[in-house]
Amino acid sequence: MFGQLLLGVAGNGGVRRLVTGSSVSRPVVARFVAGDDVAAATAATRDLARDGIAVTLDRLGEDVTAPDQADETVAGYRDLVERLAAEGLAEGNEVSIKLSALGQGLGPDGPARATDRAHALVGHAYSRGVDVTVDMEDHTRVEDTLETVRTLRADFPRTGCVLQSMLRRTEGDVRDLARPGSRVRLVKGAYNEPPEVAHPAKADVDKAYVRALRTLLDGGAHAMVATHDLRIVKLAEELLAAGPAGSAEFQMLYGIRSPEQQRLAKHHAMRVYVPYGTDWYGYFSRRLAERPANLAFFARSLVAG
Ligand code: FDA
Repeated sequence: MFGQLLLGVAGNGGVRRLVTGSSVSRPVVARFVAGDDVAAATAATRDLARDGIAVTLDRLGEDVTAPDQADETVAGYRDLVERLAAEGLAEGNEVSIKLSALGQGLGPDGPARATDRAHALVGHAYSRGVDVTVDMEDHTRVEDTLETVRTLRADFPRTGCVLQSMLRRTEGDVRDLARPGSRVRLVKGAYNEPPEVAHPAKADVDKAYVRALRTLLDGGAHAMVATHDLRIVKLAEELLAAGPAGSAEFQMLYGIRSPEQQRLAKHHAMRVYVPYGTDWYGYFSRRLAERPANLAFFARSLVAG
């Protein structure tokens, strides 16, 4: 409830200017964002690799307002992938993309053009041995995003898809995607959604997550268990110990529960979602909304600064 309220406030232009314009934001942002550029992203990749942790790199940016910005997104990912390959960091690592950064929201042919851009991006990444997962944004984009993933998977079957347990429709989507070879990142969902489409109670989101996880593993999919919820992590470890039909890896966000990331990496495949870039506002506000303590810390920094 508080998180939904905060996401509403974060959409206000004045709040955005206050937060992005304040010099005290930077150190707080740095907890969640690896840095401004590809060099920072590869440095974080190398650091995490020392602990046996793989990455999925996110070039920050979403909701572009013009086609040339969407083309820039593709070019930015191309640079990133080239850099990973040049530094011997391609194998086992991944990138995450948002279709709204590829122009999905730009007019009636936005979804088709975003699919074309994603196809070029994924093709290039594949050629360098880098996997791609398509992030899931708010519920209005789910149908188009799943359609894009279906198209991408026809040529690049390892393309990953994200499903959000908070959405009521996800139960059906999970059944469709719970197949051998299908890489599915399961998350709770980070967007401000109305009760018509999403479970309002956290307990129901959590229960839906566990049901979805069982469906993925029973169906033989590769489940990417993306959560910092230690009860769910424990349950997932128990399910894996029983030798399910599918396989799994754990995923967490950069800067959140690092000791647990290190512990998991000793026993399982572990991947950290590492965002980088200067367009951090949307990502950062979702991280604040997830945890009131983050907001309190940030608010204290703003006042003290
Ligand atoms: P929950 O919110 O219940 O948190 C469990 C515990 O984890 C908290 O009690 C707290 O201790 C800790 N925690 C959680 N969030 C924290 C934070 N911001 N700061 C500090 N501690 C925190 N969402 C989406 O809609 N589309 C997507 O594509 C993705 N992609 C994605 C990739 C990966 C790798 C992860 C881990 C998450 C996402 N998400 C996402 C975000 C996801 O939907 C969700 O909002 C967050 O993971 C928080 O939910 P938890 O599952 O961690 O549980």
